[in-house]
Amino acid sequence: MINIPKGTKDVLPKDAYKWHFIENAAREIAEVYNLKEIRTPVFEHTELFLRGVGDTTDIVNKEMYTFKDKGDRSITLKPEGTAGAARSFIENGMSSGVLPAKMYYIIPAFRYERPQAGRLREFHQFGIEVYGSQSADTDAEVIFAASSFLDKLGVKNVKLNINSIGCKTCRAEYNAALKAYLEPDLDKMCPTCRERYEKNPLRILDCKEEGCKKITAKAPRMIDYLCDGCRQHFEQVKSYLAAGGLEYTVDSGIVRGLDYYTKTVFEFVSEEIGAQGTVCGGGRYDGLIQELGGSHTPAVGFAAGIERLILLMENTGIPFPEEPKPDVYFAGMDEDSRRTAFSLALKARAAGIAAEVDHMSRSVKAQFKYADKIGARYVAAIGSSELEKGSVNLKRMSDGFTQEVKFEDINSYILSGK
Ligand code: HAM
Repeated sequence: MINIPKGTKDVLPKDAYKWHFIENAAREIAEVYNLKEIRTPVFEHTELFLRGVGDTTDIVNKEMYTFKDKGDRSITLKPEGTAGAARSFIENGMSSGVLPAKMYYIIPAFRYERPQAGRLREFHQFGIEVYGSQSADTDAEVIFAASSFLDKLGVKNVKLNINSIGCKTCRAEYNAALKAYLEPDLDKMCPTCRERYEKNPLRILDCKEEGCKKITAKAPRMIDYLCDGCRQHFEQVKSYLAAGGLEYTVDSGIVRGLDYYTKTVFEFVSEEIGAQGTVCGGGRYDGLIQELGGSHTPAVGFAAGIERLILLMENTGIPFPEEPKPDVYFAGMDEDSRRTAFSLALKARAAGIAAEVDHMSRSVKAQFKYADKIGARYVAAIGSSELEKGSVNLKRMSDGFTQEVKFEDINSYILSGK
């Protein structure tokens, strides 16, 4: 037998309703926030992620699914959705269209990580991106969209943490201060941190090595080095969050795992799903479009991990509304009645009624049992006398109430909701 690859999961038909619930909630949120769907390829040129996500991130350094295609091009399965959306924004000239350009996606993403609860190698994200606005209300709107999405799912006890990691100008000043602080201990830090020290010192704060964490515990924080513009922007974001009544904590330790962020960064975190508690993360990234060859375009967005949300809902006992059951089951007693059952089911389906028939040559008794098992609302048993009369006894399964209904009236009877 060939097994599923490590770090991936099947969604079985019996569980698909959970995904539909989350995806429907995502689409409903997208609609009320006026976000339109964007679909980009599952794979892109590797270069996009090197430049977009950043070559000092774990994602680019260790986790990408990269391969050469038959034309000898370096291709990567997307590890996240932002870079592809940004590429498409530029390539399709969206900056000269209506701004802000507000979009969302529901995508698979691929990262070669060590699998554990809530951490997979193929996972799925609901993400949104807004291009063209630099104002703080847009950061706040994106955060509210994430929060409304979590509310719609019914998840509770998820904390919002926010931070600002500044712009190019104040980051340079901060990097210098951080480097000066770390310099005496540099030789005790891990090789990755030593490399980051040269290329992107802020990223050192994201290191998970205990030794490095100790050294950086009291290191200067970006939030204390914000320039006037960034400080004002952050104050405005907070004032909009407060205006909408959203509680948050400023966590100066958030740097995020991707290099493109500027100014606002945020995470929604749960303590109910173990070490991988971040269910949603995002922020502003005003430099990415230009970095990828477009004109300067401010942007902000987030992505939420669908598997983590399902885990959170399961762990905290939040029910998933089940999908509708079949409306009617037509049971045929012999070959002729089975053919009639089959065609009545076709007519019902054409009228938008969910109908089922027997495919396993079961006895009538076993068919009733099966109809009950699949939760059919009505069952119609058809035998020779029903064929003669041209009508069925339609049994309402919830209370056993039975009504004789002509073949041609079955659909309207069921649709009337009796
Ligand atoms: P991210 O924080 O890397 O951000 O991922 C967003 C979410 O995806 C995480 O909070 C988590 O729920 C989920 N996730 C990440 N990695 C895994 C994994 N290995 N297994 C399961 N779930 C995972 C981004 O991807 C950014 N593109 C978000 C963004 C959009 N920022 C601006 N716009």
